[in-house]
Amino acid sequence: PQRKKLVAGNWKMHGSRAMADKLVRDIVEDLPDGTDVLVFPPDVYLAGMVDRYGDRGLGLGAQNLSEHHVQGAFTGEISGAMLYDVGARWVLTGHSERRQYQHESDELVAKKFDSARQAGLTPILCVGETKEEHEAGQAEAVIARQLGAVLEHNSIEVFREAVIAYEPVWAIGTGLTATPEKAQKIHAFIRSQLAKKDVNISLLTRVIYGGSVKPANAAELFAQPDVDGGLIGGAALVASDFLDICAAAR
Ligand code: G3H
Repeated sequence: PQRKKLVAGNWKMHGSRAMADKLVRDIVEDLPDGTDVLVFPPDVYLAGMVDRYGDRGLGLGAQNLSEHHVQGAFTGEISGAMLYDVGARWVLTGHSERRQYQHESDELVAKKFDSARQAGLTPILCVGETKEEHEAGQAEAVIARQLGAVLEHNSIEVFREAVIAYEPVWAIGTGLTATPEKAQKIHAFIRSQLAKKDVNISLLTRVIYGGSVKPANAAELFAQPDVDGGLIGGAALVASDFLDICAAAR
């Protein structure tokens, strides 16, 4: 099946109200046809963006959500339902920075993945090995474990909609990118893990690549048969770079 390409900009903890507004305005003016383009700003800017640009064909999402799906005494937390309420339709789960700095375990990531779905948000499940794991030849084992935590409590059906992002941690923000061949190999591995449960769904699930994607390397990465787009960090903060990367997904 033909999988529609998807390019997502993860702004991480960057920006200001003025910067966010200008960046999104520039992006919506030049959105390419035929590619899903998403932006993940810091939560405090989300509602305003939906109000101003929500009808322009750009998908908006959050970088994180609470694992609790019912409101309650959870100071500082934001639920999937609240994100949905302000117009978010997507959410990142299991980004390596949250696994690393917020100590999110595979089990917590799986809970957040479930909470996202319950709230009507489409989760992007981020997986990937660290530099040490990479050097020890453990990439596939780590990714199988991260995927397994979600599949343990869920039917494979969840991946009809959900997206998987492969982000080798050693490539994030470092300027080191997995070669297109290496990325393809891992993406094919991820698809083979899904295929063990259901071949048809494995062919529908979009698997995007993240880790130092730039305008100069995007086309080659996205041309790989199992690379369905990208999760972009640094280059998503510059409208012209992000739009060039989106254009490379055609
Ligand atoms: O979520 C995005 C990734 O962590 C990639 O970040 O493009 O700055 O390497 P980067």
